[in-house]
Amino acid sequence: LIAFFQPKLLAGRKLLITAGPTFEALDPVRGITNLSSGKMGFAIARAAAEAGAAVTLVAGPVHLPTPRHVRRIDVQSAQQMFDAVLPLAAQHELFVATAAVADWRPLAASAHKIKKDPSQGNRPPAFEMTENPDILASVAALPAGQRPRLCVGFAAESQDLARHGRDKLLRKKVELVVGNIGPATFGRDDNALLLIDAEGERELPRADKLSLARQLVAEIARRV
Ligand code: CTP
Ligand code: CA
Repeated sequence: LIAFFQPKLLAGRKLLITAGPTFEALDPVRGITNLSSGKMGFAIARAAAEAGAAVTLVAGPVHLPTPRHVRRIDVQSAQQMFDAVLPLAAQHELFVATAAVADWRPLAASAHKIKKDPSQGNRPPAFEMTENPDILASVAALPAGQRPRLCVGFAAESQDLARHGRDKLLRKKVELVVGNIGPATFGRDDNALLLIDAEGERELPRADKLSLARQLVAEIARRV
């Protein structure tokens, strides 16, 4: 019922959002991922839909139910997330990147399970890594007419959140960066956020992720 009575702040708007970790395969049974639970991104998708937006959610591997009225596209790797997001970006006026995208992937995943090799003394394998595309920076760099009007990035840092967040705002050329105020919020149901934009900084005090998501949706609506 509370959901039904949310003010329709984003009525008629289209919002694209990434959430969750990515999974970078090493071989058919192993890979590199991270501790992102996807909860914050799914909460924002839900809050935006409740606010009347048409929401497309591109999700990495997470175990979360799809929020009502949200179109969900599941992906595994950063490259797959990039390939799903880029063609959709031009149809959305709002883009929110909450995904914890792997910065690097193995240059080549092995087609078969990598086996221990006693004849080599079980020498551990070495993986050459290559950089993944930056989804947020690529969307923000789309030419006018294809670029969403508002691009929002997230930042999880272990130190100097305000400085690193502002650096990301400028480097990725986005309108807003939302910092997770530590300690690590992975998997928790609450969070505290630092909003960083060209004007300055504002803190959203610790609260459950859905109520923070609703505050963030109000913040986004105020800007469009
Ligand atoms: N991001 C993205 N694609 C990537 C990496 C990051 O879309 N390949 C987005 C994230 O979803 C987030 C923002 O960029 O919204 C910041 O991510 P973060 O990992 O903090 O930034 P990086 O530029 O990767 O810097 P760092 O060295 O701190 O990891
Ligand atoms: Ca990163």
